[in-house]
Amino acid sequence: MQGLSVDFSRLDNFVSKEELKLMDYKIKEAHKMLNEKTGAGRNMLGWLDLPTNRDDDEINRIKQCALKIQKQCDVFVVIGIGGSYLGAKAMIDLFTNNFSNMLSLSQRKFPQIIFAGNNMSGKYLRNLVEYLEDKDVAINVISKSGKTLEPAITFRILKILLEQKYGITGAAERIYVTTDSQKGLLHDIAKKNEYEMFVIPDDVGGRYSVLTPVGLLPMAVANINIEDILDGAQFASHLFNEECIDYNDCYKYAAYRNILYNKGKEIEILASYDPCFRYFIEWFKQLFGESEGKNAKGIFPSGALFSTDLHSMGQLIQEGKRNIFETVINVNLDRSFIELPKTDENLDELNYLAGKSIEYINKQAFYGTLEAHVQGGVPNIVINLDDLNEYIIGELIFFFEKACAMSGYMLGVNPFDQPGVEAYKKNMMNLLISDND
Ligand code: PA5
Repeated sequence: MQGLSVDFSRLDNFVSKEELKLMDYKIKEAHKMLNEKTGAGRNMLGWLDLPTNRDDDEINRIKQCALKIQKQCDVFVVIGIGGSYLGAKAMIDLFTNNFSNMLSLSQRKFPQIIFAGNNMSGKYLRNLVEYLEDKDVAINVISKSGKTLEPAITFRILKILLEQKYGITGAAERIYVTTDSQKGLLHDIAKKNEYEMFVIPDDVGGRYSVLTPVGLLPMAVANINIEDILDGAQFASHLFNEECIDYNDCYKYAAYRNILYNKGKEIEILASYDPCFRYFIEWFKQLFGESEGKNAKGIFPSGALFSTDLHSMGQLIQEGKRNIFETVINVNLDRSFIELPKTDENLDELNYLAGKSIEYINKQAFYGTLEAHVQGGVPNIVINLDDLNEYIIGELIFFFEKACAMSGYMLGVNPFDQPGVEAYKKNMMNLLISDND
C-alpha cells in the first residue's frame, strides 16, 4: 500500500532536469551520512528506526494506559511545548471531529483533550484552572529535558490542583510522565511520586519524537490507531531509503528545496485545503525551522490554510516578492461528507453548484489556485494523499522527517541540534533570577 505520491511537474519552468541531476552527488553524500551515521548529530538518528524496531510491550502499555485514562477522566491535559506537543496535537486534529471537545462524551468516546504548557499566558492558565475545577482530570506531562519552563510552570499548578482534588496518592494515579529514561527534574519528580512513566529515547530529539510515547500516548487516548501510523511510517522508511533520486520522491523533494533556495526562493509555504491540517503545518514548521535555521542559512518554513488564507495572504503569494515556493498537501478523499442542496428560489444564485460535494468545490479551488500561483512565479510541489487515514499520515510524517534530515545535510548544517533556542532562555532566566535577588 502506498497512498502518497509527489507531483513535481509544476517545477519544470523553474528548475531544469540538469540542475536536478547536479544534486545527485549531494543526495548520495547525505544518504550515506544518514545510513552510515557519519554526519553531524549522528547520535540523534534513533527516529529512523522507530517505525521498524518497535517495542511491542511498550505499545501495549501505551494502549492499556490510554484505556485507563479514558475511564478515569473527563478532561485529559497534555502538557508540553515544541516537539513535546505539536505532533500529538497535529494527529488529534487530523483524526478527530473538528468540534471534538464540544461533543458529549458518548459522541466523542474519549475524554476532552486540552494542550497546555505551551505558553506562559496567565490568562490561559487561570482559565484552564477554572475550567478544570469541577471536572475529573488526568495529565500527561511531556518534557525530554525535564526542565523547560513553560510545561514546568503549568505542571506545578495542575499537580497542586490534582492533589487538592484527589489527595497525593489519588493524584499520582492520574499523572503520566513522558521524559528521559535516566535524568532531569521531571524524571526525578516522577520517580519520587511513583508516577507512570514513558521514555523518550536518548537518540530521538523533540521534533523527531512524534512516533515515540510523546505522540503515541495522547493519540491512543483519542482512539487513533497508533499501529497503523507506525505501519505507514515503516513502509515509508523503506520506500524513502532508495539512494537513487529518480526512485525516491523524498530525496527529490529535499533536492528541489535546495535548488529553489539557491535561486532565492527562501520561503516555503506548506499549504492545505483543510483546516484539520493546521497543527500538522505547525509541526512541519518546527521540524524544518529548528533543523535548518542555523549558520545564517535556512528556508523560512511557513504555512497556509486555503481557501481561508487566499483571502488574507493570497495577494502577497500571487504578486508579492518572488521569494516563495509552495508545497501543497492534496488529499483525494474517496467519500463525500456533504453536498450543496438545491433551493427553489436560488436567491444566492448557487444552484449551478447544487448536488456537488463540498470536496469537489474545494478541489476546484485547489486546481485554480495551483495554476494561478505557478503562473504568478511561485513554484509548486504537490503531495498527493489517496485518503486521510493513519497509515498514509504515518507515511507523510516519515516523508517529512527524512526530507528534513536530508535537506539539512545538503544545506551543510546539523539538522539535529538547536543551539539558537538557548539565547532567549538565557536572557529570560537572567531577568527572572536577578529579579529574585
Ligand atoms: O525539538 C526540540 O528539541 C524542542 O522543540 C523541544 O521539543 C522543546 O523545546 C521542548 O523541550 P523539552 O521536551 O525538553 O521540554
